[in-house]
Amino acid sequence: MKLILQAFVSLSIIVFLMAPCWATKTDDLTPTQIHRAKVLLEGRCGMCHAAPKPKDYTLQEWPGIINHMGPKAGLRQSEMDLLVKYMEYSFKNHQKAGSTSQ
Ligand code: HEC
Repeated sequence: MKLILQAFVSLSIIVFLMAPCWATKTDDLTPTQIHRAKVLLEGRCGMCHAAPKPKDYTLQEWPGIINHMGPKAGLRQSEMDLLVKYMEYSFKNHQKAGSTSQ
């Protein structure tokens, strides 16, 4: 019983510490996911040609481009999904995410 209580207390502390991250997330992207998407875009999509910026294409074009280019970049399905979400995020918050620079 004591152990359960301890687990509950630690969990509450974790939730409390994580709260600022959740509060700043946009839609369902956390700051960590946004960072990961930028790293993927610059590091993996920039291997063969210059890494494209979200604004280079429309929101309608992006899913097709990512599905076509993702396998070339060796991205997993989850990474491609993340990039599509990142593009949506970026279009909604263009002043913050319009640039892919770190
Ligand atoms: C293995 C090399 C390679 C990688 C990695 C790669 N690309 Fe490409 N990309 C190409 C080539 C080659 C073309 C031009 C021919 C084509 O469209 O297949 C291209 C074309 C493009 C275009 C122009 C397409 C159009 O319709 O005008 C975009 C946008 C693009 N890539 C985005 C990406 C993104 C985003 C990623 C990362 C998910 C990526 N690329 C990763 C090789 C690559």
